Amino acid sequence: MPEKKDTQVVKHGDVTQRVGVEVIRKRGVDVEKLIKMLIANAAAEFASTYYYYTILRMHLAGHEDYKEICEDARLEDRAHWELIVPRIYELGGELPNDLPAFHDQAGCRAAKVPDPPTVVNILTLLLESERCAIRSWIEICDMTFGKDPRTYDMASRILNEEIEHEAWFIELLAHERDGKTIPSGHFRRGEPGHAPYSKNASFYNP
Ligand SMILES: [Fe+2]
Ligand SMILES: [Fe+2]
Repeated sequence: MPEKKDTQVVKHGDVTQRVGVEVIRKRGVDVEKLIKMLIANAAAEFASTYYYYTILRMHLAGHEDYKEICEDARLEDRAHWELIVPRIYELGGELPNDLPAFHDQAGCRAAKVPDPPTVVNILTLLLESERCAIRSWIEICDMTFGKDPRTYDMASRILNEEIEHEAWFIELLAHERDGKTIPSGHFRRGEPGHAPYSKNASFYNP
């Protein structure tokens, strides 16, 4: 196949540049901004939620049903983190080589155990953390739609699960705080942290 010389920026054999970046830049993606946003989202998934959800789950003692839902959300955020990291490097970015610095770049607030750590306070915090994640991922979707199919596909898979997480915590908080039933449409995952979208796993279908 003939080479498309007129549009080629990356030189033959050049390992310092990437065609995978060239093509999305040409389509209008601000790659430096995208890398920054992906690092902020990676930090939010790993530090603001996965880490702190681990602690929050421990504080839902006596509510094994809530703990199960929190566990799915927690492990799926870990899956999100794993999904984002390779994309950051493919785009020519890198993770900060300093964990506190990484934590401080997070696009969402750390989900620290609330005071007092009541079930209602914990569920409210979980709900608002999912909402921050939805807002962050839809921004990446908007930025990449029609221009960077690989990042868009990743972001929309994660967004699918964040929207489910919000619905789960609306259901639990409405029940616990207001005695109201607002169904989330939740089917149980095949296994804890199944992540059907971000791990590309089939839906639970016994
Ligand atoms: Fe997430
Ligand atoms: Fe989530």
